[in-house]
Amino acid sequence: MPRLLRIDSSYEADGSVSRDLTGVFADAWRSRGEAYDVVERDLRTDPVPHLAHAGLHWSPALREEPAEEESYREAARTQQALVDELLSADALLIGAPMYNYAMPSTLKAWIDQVHVRGLTSADDRDTRPLRGRSAVIVATRGTVHGSGTVNEHRDHAVPPLRLILGEEFGMEVAVVTVDRTLSTSVAALSHERPAFAADRRAAAARLAALARSIG
Ligand SMILES: Cc1cc2nc3c(=O)[nH]c(=O)nc-3n(C[C@H](O)[C@H](O)[C@H](O)COP(=O)(O)O)c2cc1C
Repeated sequence: MPRLLRIDSSYEADGSVSRDLTGVFADAWRSRGEAYDVVERDLRTDPVPHLAHAGLHWSPALREEPAEEESYREAARTQQALVDELLSADALLIGAPMYNYAMPSTLKAWIDQVHVRGLTSADDRDTRPLRGRSAVIVATRGTVHGSGTVNEHRDHAVPPLRLILGEEFGMEVAVVTVDRTLSTSVAALSHERPAFAADRRAAAARLAALARSIG
């Protein structure tokens, strides 16, 4: 059964552009047939805890377990469930709004949980079970961050996601970006609405096409 893990992280309950677009992708994925399953994790309503012990960044084989500490074992079980959820997915979809030039802290907490050296990324051997699987990032930003803009080098949201998913996990990463989302709510930016609407339409079309072709 081809499974998609859809992660949303917008702080917005209604009107989130990234959540709307991950929805477009998930619908197109399901439309491929009954076997196409979607597991949804919304970090706004169901945030994951921060990693409670630094040792959990390493696989059980690589770390020294603290002697019989219950809080450590509990944190390890929580982490293993999140890793298992990720490993059970054939494809990963992440809605990643930009907040203060970075990814949402809830999404960073999820990344800290599932990036485990020797388990999801390599140690001295190439232990990367996600290698070759698809990851799609839907990046939304209020203003413009493209090349030649003042914000060109201020995107600290997508580069770390590419690094972890692409280089550390070995996934095939596609990024779909929509800028100028604030043009619909900030009067001073209203002149950007047509460009935003065009971007959003193009993003939806690209995501639907990706959902029908990957996995
Ligand atoms: C706390 C916060 C910080 C933000 N920081 C930025 C920023 O650094 N750069 C930017 O372009 N937009 C910023 N925005 C605007 C969001 O990126 C924009 O509203 C985006 O559409 C949010 O994604 P969503 O529509 O999926 O909820 C910020 C919004 C919030 C709430």
